[in-house]
Amino acid sequence: MPLVNMRDMLQHAHRERYAVAAFDLVSLDFLHAILNAAEACEAPVILSLAESHFDYFDFPTLMPAVVSAARRANVPVAIHLDHGATYESAVQGINLGCTGVMVDASTRPFEGNVDYTRKIVGMAHACGVPVEGELGYVAGVEGEDAERHPGEVRYTEVAEAKEYVERTGVDFLAVSIGTVHGRMKGEPNLDIERLGAINDALGIPLVIHGGTGLSDQQFQDLIANGVTKINYYTALADAAGKQIRANAQADSGCGYTGLVKGVIGAIQQECEKRIRQWGSDGKAAAVLAEAEPWQEVEHVIVYNTEGTTAEQVDELMQIGRDTLSNIPGVRRVFTGNALQEDATYQHCWVIRFAHREVADSYRNHPDHVAYADTHFRPVAGDRISIDYEDAD
Ligand code: 13P
Repeated sequence: MPLVNMRDMLQHAHRERYAVAAFDLVSLDFLHAILNAAEACEAPVILSLAESHFDYFDFPTLMPAVVSAARRANVPVAIHLDHGATYESAVQGINLGCTGVMVDASTRPFEGNVDYTRKIVGMAHACGVPVEGELGYVAGVEGEDAERHPGEVRYTEVAEAKEYVERTGVDFLAVSIGTVHGRMKGEPNLDIERLGAINDALGIPLVIHGGTGLSDQQFQDLIANGVTKINYYTALADAAGKQIRANAQADSGCGYTGLVKGVIGAIQQECEKRIRQWGSDGKAAAVLAEAEPWQEVEHVIVYNTEGTTAEQVDELMQIGRDTLSNIPGVRRVFTGNALQEDATYQHCWVIRFAHREVADSYRNHPDHVAYADTHFRPVAGDRISIDYEDAD
């Protein structure tokens, strides 16, 4: 159950003036380390999966493990697609179990960013999923040396930020005030005055990318000025790398398990340090008490067909699986035939929705309407259809 609505989670942090850690993960070691740390600190946490890291893991393979671990955690958890570059990646993220998505259209001109972000917000909100937008440009790449990457930092303008939030409907805004992704040489110079002005103008949870390398005082200043989600990765990767190098030095002939020994603990230690520094430790119970639990819905249809052969029913199901599984918010499409020959209904659909909001957006989605009207309803008049919410 401890998957919760990220909007509620960040509203709590905004009101109580602390920041929730959004740690990017690239493997199961990171996943375990982050959740261990959050549980040890009794803190809400965001499991973040960055599209820029998709070369290092298979997103559809990793996501079921992420969702399962999040559900078994005893602290409130949200699962976030970090830096989703396209509409399609946002849909894929939601359909694989992300409960929040970031649209990174920050390299586009203002109008292009607004249009693209608004389109994704419309889709995601119809799935119950909150959206983080980015305005201004935070340069660099997570886990690498920021100075080696092109792209200048572009600061977020207050008036533009207000217009952007109003026109797009984003729930959270990532701002550019001087941080960069990855390692930065020298001391980052943050424009806290600008951040304060953005916070006063917007009043929504603000997000900082490029958390690695900031000082204790800088984190405190960020949080005091409306930052409620801090994205953090490079220092976790560095802690893991350091542990692996130490293992290799201690035993140059060791194999894979010898090399990664202690990596979970090393990442966990860095996560715990940041969670306590950002003040989310001890907040788990309060967030669980007020955040909406993230519950999926099973859309169940049992039916009989009339005037069809077994092959035609197979085809009906095949077309349905291909079509319906791409609709935003559809987590899984199961089609089945009754084991018992005398069952009252011989066939079924069990379609899992990411959230109860999907029940409406799915019903009205043009692909669903076309499939139902053309293929399904003409032959399946005898049916029962019910939506069940997860009672867990
Ligand atoms: P760092 O890698 O600099 O911590 O930034 C992470 C980040 O912003 C992910 O979106």
